[in-house]
Amino acid sequence: MTVPTHSNALNIAVTQDAMASFSKASDPRLAHVMSLLVKHLHAFVNESQLSKAEWLKGLEFLTAAAKITDDERNEFSLFSDIMGISSMVDVVSQPPGGTPSSVLGPFHNHDSHLQPNGSDLTHGQPGERVWLHGRVLDVHQNAIPNAQIDFWQNADNGLYPAQDAAQDPQNLRCKINCDANGGFSLLTIRPHPYTVPTDGPVGALLAASNRGIWRPAHFHIIVSAPGYVGLVTELFPAGSDYLDNDTVFGVRPGLIVDVKNCDNSEVAVQYGLTAPFKEVEFDFSLVKQA
Ligand SMILES: [Fe+2]
Repeated sequence: MTVPTHSNALNIAVTQDAMASFSKASDPRLAHVMSLLVKHLHAFVNESQLSKAEWLKGLEFLTAAAKITDDERNEFSLFSDIMGISSMVDVVSQPPGGTPSSVLGPFHNHDSHLQPNGSDLTHGQPGERVWLHGRVLDVHQNAIPNAQIDFWQNADNGLYPAQDAAQDPQNLRCKINCDANGGFSLLTIRPHPYTVPTDGPVGALLAASNRGIWRPAHFHIIVSAPGYVGLVTELFPAGSDYLDNDTVFGVRPGLIVDVKNCDNSEVAVQYGLTAPFKEVEFDFSLVKQA
């Protein structure tokens, strides 16, 4: 099929003038990024032969996104997620060689409390117990001392504390300082798939596009260590629904983890579990800062 275009002198001039209009920006990176953005947006308008009605509809979408956005809820961030932009930024900004990164998502809380390594985060709540442990290593498999993990996930009802007033705001989240061998360990529950918010314009777009609204079950983890590039990532239990059609495109092959049976009696006693219980073991690999 031949794509209709109006690649005449007039629209080429409009694109060139709009790109050049950013050339005097005091920050050269701003000049470069905005010029490229104009170039590709103009190409999109040209290739799609966007009508005035469609352009207006786009503006109405952005206006509705602004109206529903507040301190707790960012529809633009969700729009970025479901367009795959957030994942693309993850992919292009992560240096090669280490554990793959994945999306941060909307429920990270900078104020998670520091808990002792080996903590039990379950505190009697419902959910299948999972012993999550592993090490933080460099790309040569050497232990990184003084690493820290920042962990969060949803509860057995599929909700994060920010969505569920019945939960303690610190529920199923913590920071842990790893040991001298990079080791970390905690007891949590099996996370559950959940839907992205559907009550705003992004939800309407997903419905109109006959797209899924679900994310597969996942643990969120940020791994940091002095001298290494920080890692924002997720671990996806194998066998979860929606691994093949995550609506925010966050699943990477290297981040799918087996939930195994474990009969370690020492760990069973430590957490008051009956063996066999569930275990996820994962070693993170960080890239040294340039
Ligand atoms: Fe999440």
